[in-house]
Amino acid sequence: MAPLFQLSALLTLCVSFVRAQTTVTVQAGTTFQTMDGFGFSEAFGHANDLFNYPAAEQKQVLDLLFNVTTGAGMTIIRNRIGSGGAGDSILPTSPGCPTCTPTYVWDGSDGHQVWFSQQAMAYGVKTIYADAWSAPGFMKTNGVETNGGTLCGVTGATCASGDWKQAYANFLTQYIKFYQQSNVTITHVGFLNEPEFSPTYSSMNSNGQQAADFIKVLSPTLAAAGLNTKITCCDSEGWSNQITMTNAISAAGALNLLGVVTSHAYSSPVSGTINTPTNVWETEYADLSDPLLPNNWFSNGAAGEGFTWANQIFDGIVNSRLSAYLYWIGAEPGTTNSALILTNGTTVTPSKRLWAFAQFSRYIRPGAVRLGTSGSGANLKFSAFKNSDGSVSVQVLNNNAAAAAINVVTSGFTATSVQAFVSAQGTDLAALPATLSGGIASASVPAHGMVTFVLNGAPGSGSSTTTVGSSSTGSTTTTVSTTVITTVSTPTSSPTGCLSAEWGQCAGIGWTGCTGCAAGTACQFVNDWYSQCLP
Ligand SMILES: *[C@@H]1O[C@H](CO)[C@@H](O)[C@H](O)[C@H]1NC(C)=O
Ligand SMILES: *[C@@H]1O[C@H](CO)[C@@H](O)[C@H](O)[C@H]1NC(C)=O
Ligand SMILES: *[C@@H]1O[C@H](CO)[C@@H](O)[C@H](O)[C@H]1NC(C)=O
Repeated sequence: MAPLFQLSALLTLCVSFVRAQTTVTVQAGTTFQTMDGFGFSEAFGHANDLFNYPAAEQKQVLDLLFNVTTGAGMTIIRNRIGSGGAGDSILPTSPGCPTCTPTYVWDGSDGHQVWFSQQAMAYGVKTIYADAWSAPGFMKTNGVETNGGTLCGVTGATCASGDWKQAYANFLTQYIKFYQQSNVTITHVGFLNEPEFSPTYSSMNSNGQQAADFIKVLSPTLAAAGLNTKITCCDSEGWSNQITMTNAISAAGALNLLGVVTSHAYSSPVSGTINTPTNVWETEYADLSDPLLPNNWFSNGAAGEGFTWANQIFDGIVNSRLSAYLYWIGAEPGTTNSALILTNGTTVTPSKRLWAFAQFSRYIRPGAVRLGTSGSGANLKFSAFKNSDGSVSVQVLNNNAAAAAINVVTSGFTATSVQAFVSAQGTDLAALPATLSGGIASASVPAHGMVTFVLNGAPGSGSSTTTVGSSSTGSTTTTVSTTVITTVSTPTSSPTGCLSAEWGQCAGIGWTGCTGCAAGTACQFVNDWYSQCLP
């Protein structure tokens, strides 16, 4: 608050209205989690839908989803490992007993999910997550692949037919091998989906102990097959159940066998952190019921709006240490917000949520490391990442009803060029004018808008290196750098001779306030509209 008091003496000379200019400092030496990416699924027939679109529409949809210069630049896909009958599962018929020889059936297509994976790979996608919603029905206590039921052989699930843990591990391993035949490398495999839920489609129940029992079988089975596919668990319906399951898996001594902890956000939102040394992904969430139209970026913060999703993705990454954020469906013929893109005949309608994902996914590439930031402003959110190509991307979300002038300062990195990209109501990821002066990038972030700054440059001095532990979210000490600037709205007598305080404005188009700077600071050009008293 000190600058306010320093300025108070000047108010009689200079005040007419007050406008905030906010500076965020990126701490390149303070690092948090490594990012795996952003994505979605085309499960339950939607890969097949996409395959059957007319060629022009198919290309349009694939570009919108994956193209890093014209679309969202998504980097993860989530396929479904079928567990039903012929045409869905690779083991539609029981071999008769857990140790009997299974007869696998492979059509090379898997409902065109093989083709879909290859399309994604053509855009550079490397992270292919295959998830089973259930084991085949004959491996479960209820004998069917639907309506929940539990894998026979895990704690508390005894079946007359025997213990099917190894058979289920063999089934998943074989599925990965079939994809290898098409040169599709499944990098992550899951064996549960919403294990606390028993719907009338593919589903299987599990608690954390039961999941751990199976992980201890799956892990050595994959290794024996020469696969380094990472095991995920548990795609819980909600975050709070995933916390409970992760703690139980840890207590059962199987957390070290997992590659990634995964959760959905339906029955309980992403909130706080999950205690695990692994990366954490949010692997499925969507507004399942509201209609796409009127398809707003921001009108009132409704569940399907673009800016609602920009905030959700941001909060998940910064406050809950997510390394990946996946929507539910990418593209589907439909009318609700369950997908990022809706199709109807040859009409393709990208939702504003797609551009929210794009604001992150295009500029936070797999392997990017989250950096610390300091600086805050009312209803403003900041995050920063260092990509493996050396670029730094900075996200600014403005939850105010007025535009915010933002300066981005870097510590431990010297920016030599800046680009900025904006989404707001009426603007779908457009280039935004931004300036770079004295290493400070500046742009105006529109009301209820998101801007991503992309800085190229080189490592710089001025920052020690701090790696923040895996369970920390980065709620580090925040330095408030907001500066209150006095601005005269109507021309008055020129306040010649008055001094702006440190961080205050001292020149710019339309500026009629103080043009001098307080002792120890100098007026530095930031952009045509703004110069600032900097120490
Ligand atoms: C992405 O879009 C650009 C511009 O249309 C195009 O040149 C490029 O080939 C596309 N990338 C892929 C992988 O199709
Ligand atoms: C897989 O890759 C190998 C080696 O590049 C190639 O010979 C083979 O034709 C590919 N198979 C398919 C199904 O694409
Ligand atoms: C799909 O397109 C048809 C033809 O243009 C139109 O009549 C129909 O209302 C559209 N459906 C939806 C759900 O938008």
